[in-house]
Amino acid sequence: MILQCISCSRTYSADAIRYTCECGNLLSVERATLGGSPALFDQRRASRRAIDQSGVWRFREAVLDIDERQIVTHPEGSTRLYERSGIFFKHEGENPTGSFKDRGMTVAVTQAVRLGATAIACASTGNTSASLAAYAAQAGLRALVFVPAGKVAAGKLAQTLAYGATCLAVRGDFDAAMALVREACDRLGIYLVNSINPFRIEGQKTIVWELLQDLEWNAPDWIVVPAGNLGNTSAFGKALIEAHAAGWIRTMPRIASIQASGANPFFRSFREGFAQRHRVTAETIASAIRIGDPVSYEKALTAIRATNGVVGEVTDDELMAAKGEIDRIGIGCEPASATTLAGVRKLGLTGRIVCILTGHVLKDPDAILKNVPQEQMIEIDPTIEAVERAVSASPRP
Ligand code: F0G
Repeated sequence: MILQCISCSRTYSADAIRYTCECGNLLSVERATLGGSPALFDQRRASRRAIDQSGVWRFREAVLDIDERQIVTHPEGSTRLYERSGIFFKHEGENPTGSFKDRGMTVAVTQAVRLGATAIACASTGNTSASLAAYAAQAGLRALVFVPAGKVAAGKLAQTLAYGATCLAVRGDFDAAMALVREACDRLGIYLVNSINPFRIEGQKTIVWELLQDLEWNAPDWIVVPAGNLGNTSAFGKALIEAHAAGWIRTMPRIASIQASGANPFFRSFREGFAQRHRVTAETIASAIRIGDPVSYEKALTAIRATNGVVGEVTDDELMAAKGEIDRIGIGCEPASATTLAGVRKLGLTGRIVCILTGHVLKDPDAILKNVPQEQMIEIDPTIEAVERAVSASPRP
């Protein structure tokens, strides 16, 4: 296991504390051969050990070379795959802190412990910070999170504080917080666990491997994922390239990476055949993906190219309508996650489709409470007549 630059191929020790190459591009965790096999992973699903029950560490040979006793796991992953109206939904909101971030965080925090770090940090739109805070608490590390002031959904901020992290509310947007945390980590010797950290990507690969396992290793046609900082899109590409090369799957699914139209730099690049990288000032109701300058752009580009993928954009109205649909089938998700279903519709995708629901419905209560129809939330006097009036007036499903 080594760190390798995705651009100039220069290599570094896996124990080096660095996130980018001397040439400035991103680093990737690479290994000579991919350990493990579908048969081994299937067998582990019946085991009661925490590292086998974890939907990340079940794939450990292909995630991180580590002494098993050093693993910091909740456990996480092992989320459900739902099929509704012919579409599959992999609900990553069922992770311990309510988002897919736990899959990357268990690996990054395990690596932090392995490297002897005492403090970890990230910039976040809220989910990474909640996950960092929980895993830091478990590992006994100091937690420092940089969030855009006043721009984080209530559920995420409350979680982050509850788990005990120190929260720096930066007067600026996510991209400013991201630049600041990078500088702060360098200056203060703190371990950075944003998805620019290649070990985060190794953990997030398991979203794809677990859904392939859920489908008995019969690859779907499409995997649809929300796109913000582009860590997940990058991880999905790496997971698919590795799984295909190792013979775990016979066909290569295509990735559809969906952005909100007010935060669409990756979509803009895709539309131009990736002729250039774009940066925008981001604005969208889906605060999780309110990101204008995604750090994993280069890796995500490889993911789209290698899987013959596409990038789409959906408006806030389209993603909120899709969220309403997902909520009302009793699954529920936060706004950013619903870009997937909205993207399936907008792009007219067909075949076997898996949408990744990245965050839990309770993450962003304001996005729900601001839009409750009057006939659904009715204040009444404590009388049976008032109940009867309300029941006859309220809509039936
Ligand atoms: N969905 C949710 C719920 C997210 O929280 C994020 C990113 C994404 C999608 C986009 O994933 O960044 O890998 O492209 N949230 C980060 C955070 C930025 O700080 O929690 P991505």
